[in-house]
Amino acid sequence: MSIKPILYENNVLKMIDQRLLPVEEVWLEYTDYRAVAEAIKTMVVRGAPAIGVAAAFGAAFGAREIVAADYDAFAPEFEKVCALLAATRPTAVNLFWALDRMKRCAKAHRALSPSGLKARLVGEAMEIAAEDERLNRTLGKNGATLIPDGARVLTHCNAGALATAGYGTALGVIRAAVEAGKKVAVLADETRPWLQGARLTAWELMKDGIPVTLICDNMAGHLMSKGEIDCVIVGADRIAANGDTANKIGTYTVAILAREHGLPFYVAAPISTIDLAIPDGSHIPIEERDRREVTHSGERQLAPEGVTVRNPAFDVTPARLITAIITERGVVSGDYRAELLRLVSGKE
Ligand code: MRU
Repeated sequence: MSIKPILYENNVLKMIDQRLLPVEEVWLEYTDYRAVAEAIKTMVVRGAPAIGVAAAFGAAFGAREIVAADYDAFAPEFEKVCALLAATRPTAVNLFWALDRMKRCAKAHRALSPSGLKARLVGEAMEIAAEDERLNRTLGKNGATLIPDGARVLTHCNAGALATAGYGTALGVIRAAVEAGKKVAVLADETRPWLQGARLTAWELMKDGIPVTLICDNMAGHLMSKGEIDCVIVGADRIAANGDTANKIGTYTVAILAREHGLPFYVAAPISTIDLAIPDGSHIPIEERDRREVTHSGERQLAPEGVTVRNPAFDVTPARLITAIITERGVVSGDYRAELLRLVSGKE
């Protein structure tokens, strides 16, 4: 059983504070949508599907505060709640997907009493969470067939249970391969500057007893050249209509290295990460985070005072470098524009 980082119990949202892992396991409690927004912004909760789930609960909490006699009075207030939650992080489309789903749910249940509508929205957030874990297991099984027995798999960032409602996407594929009886060894890039790989991927794989070796980001090329990596699998924050994929900064570099060494490079993500409204990766908004993430490690200063810093949190891997995209509705490759459209529209 892999960890579930987001729990909803007795009307309270509980999230493990990912800023403190792996040293401390602290669960924070939320009942206020503004606090949920702050938790997303400050990365108490992170990972594309997980921030979508958290935002859905945030929207449900915001709805609870609205005093309105009917849906027409409720809708503009709910819009403001969702706008505040949407303004937290720009890149992962799952955040906007989840908020749109909550707004659609409210509209579809406009005939309910105010209290009935609020209860329905909590129910919808719970469904989004339950669905996410369920579809990760399906996605995992779909991808597991691509992982050979004995494979040494490189991953970047954390696309694991901690980045979702449970089980994970890239790490879900690895978990499913292990559950299918394959021997899999994971190499985890530390993933500067926030260290999702060192702090989170290593932690959750060790907890599950899956062999993991931690490496610095600049070691992947060397290990590939020595024949010590068989394939790469990563998650995604937003996949454009043509297959270009935004994921944690450094993913693009790994994809180039994989191509140079003739290694398969897989992206694992749910359908909610595909954004057909974005024609290609150049249109994906890339979050720039605080310079302190680069200049400091915790309280320790690493760089000279006042140095100029760039801190883009994501990069875009062009579709041509991606061997296949693994989703809960199947694995696609080749003509991504046509294949992603087919998957999203659900037409076989
Ligand atoms: O900044 P983060 O930690 O939210 O970035 C997370 C990633 O880039 C993950 O790889 C991505 O969200 C996929 S999670 C299943």
